[in-house]
Amino acid sequence: MSRILLKNGEVVSSKGTLKIDVLIEDGKIVGFPENEEVEGAEVVDCMDKLILPGVIDPHVHFRDPGATYKEDFESGSRAAVSGGVTTVLDMPNNEPPTTSRKALDAKRALVNGRSFANYGFYIGFDGGNLEEVNEAENIPGVKVYVANSTGDMGVSQENLEELFEKSNKLIVVHAEDEGIIEKNKKKFDGELVAEMHSKIRSPEAAAKAVKYVCELARKYKRPVHIAHVSTEAEVDIIEEYKEDGVTCEVTPHHLHLTEDDYEQWKNFIKVNPPVRSRMEVFSLWKALKTGVIDIIDTDHAPHSLEEKEAGYLDAPAGIPGVEMLLPIFLNTVSSEGLTISELVRLVCERPAEIFGIPNKGRIMEGYDADLVIVDMEIEKKVERKDLLSKAGWSPYEGLMLKGWPIMTIVDGEIVYKDGKVEGQPIGKEVVF
Ligand code: NCD
Ligand code: ZN
Ligand code: ZN
Repeated sequence: MSRILLKNGEVVSSKGTLKIDVLIEDGKIVGFPENEEVEGAEVVDCMDKLILPGVIDPHVHFRDPGATYKEDFESGSRAAVSGGVTTVLDMPNNEPPTTSRKALDAKRALVNGRSFANYGFYIGFDGGNLEEVNEAENIPGVKVYVANSTGDMGVSQENLEELFEKSNKLIVVHAEDEGIIEKNKKKFDGELVAEMHSKIRSPEAAAKAVKYVCELARKYKRPVHIAHVSTEAEVDIIEEYKEDGVTCEVTPHHLHLTEDDYEQWKNFIKVNPPVRSRMEVFSLWKALKTGVIDIIDTDHAPHSLEEKEAGYLDAPAGIPGVEMLLPIFLNTVSSEGLTISELVRLVCERPAEIFGIPNKGRIMEGYDADLVIVDMEIEKKVERKDLLSKAGWSPYEGLMLKGWPIMTIVDGEIVYKDGKVEGQPIGKEVVF
């Protein structure tokens, strides 16, 4: 039996912080002993440290199966736990795509025993697999691409409507309008450099798709989660449909990068939807503070350095992020852009609620012992050599960040400590 006592730390929830000891036994949080010694427990001194629920990142692309030279479940989940992320939900744009129960089971078999973080898998909707979607078991939801993104899984509006009408799962949408994108492509033909990405996949393309997705949610009374919002227009629309069960997420890159960063990063920051203007970024921060945006997650979308160095048309879209999520926003907490309680709501509690992950996202008796210990006094520069994702780069390189995770516990086992991922890949599939 493994037993760990986290002593002298401050436990964080969306309600506030509380100085209290946490006892972990056999993978569960079993109690909060008051100044007691606990027989047989390994004591971890958390004096002057914060104890957070493990971060849940419900939007990652670990590329397994299909493109394991970009990432695989072992490398992706190592990167995750090194950044305090204890649960990931992995997207279906694999090769082959995860669009059937058979493909889901094959992915389960493939990942079993290779993940350091706990995990779940979406099923993808390809326009013709409604029965597979409805019969699929133990998934967080069905992912649908309204426009083509990496993996070319875009579906028509008719098929999208059918999904809303007939499916029984939470619908997670990549919302951009393919018609507007195609029209823009023709308009900007001939001057294709990284900067054009933001003009081709324009704010109007995102807003139009979000509007019809929200209308479908209202018409069919189906909850929908909108991935990676990037514009003021989208959040303004979503605000009107909150009571129809519309939730949404924003990524670190849409909150921290702007079109000005193309000069430095070129196609490395080519991403769908694209990075936007400073004004758009400002409005996203506002929506985060007012609660229109429910969660921050990464859309961790690694590609190889070689692929990213290609020209605009060939370079694939996507930015890695899973290991930087917590450090980036702990730094925001240090500079008082968010409170630590707001952050826990955004990256732990709301993801668990929206995706129906039981016993995670909070530090409560009986909950799974997925935890991260944070030292808000550590100041460290983001350096390429420290990154664990196979992507091998980060748009935050060179930034000095204050506040870092120092220990990550998954199912009651310490998997990351003193800058190193340790132990076995004990991550399990989440039971939804
Ligand atoms: C993602 C990828 O590379 O898988 N790319 C991206 O630009 N965001 C796909 C996606 O989430 O749209
Ligand atoms: Zn997407
Ligand atoms: Zn994605």
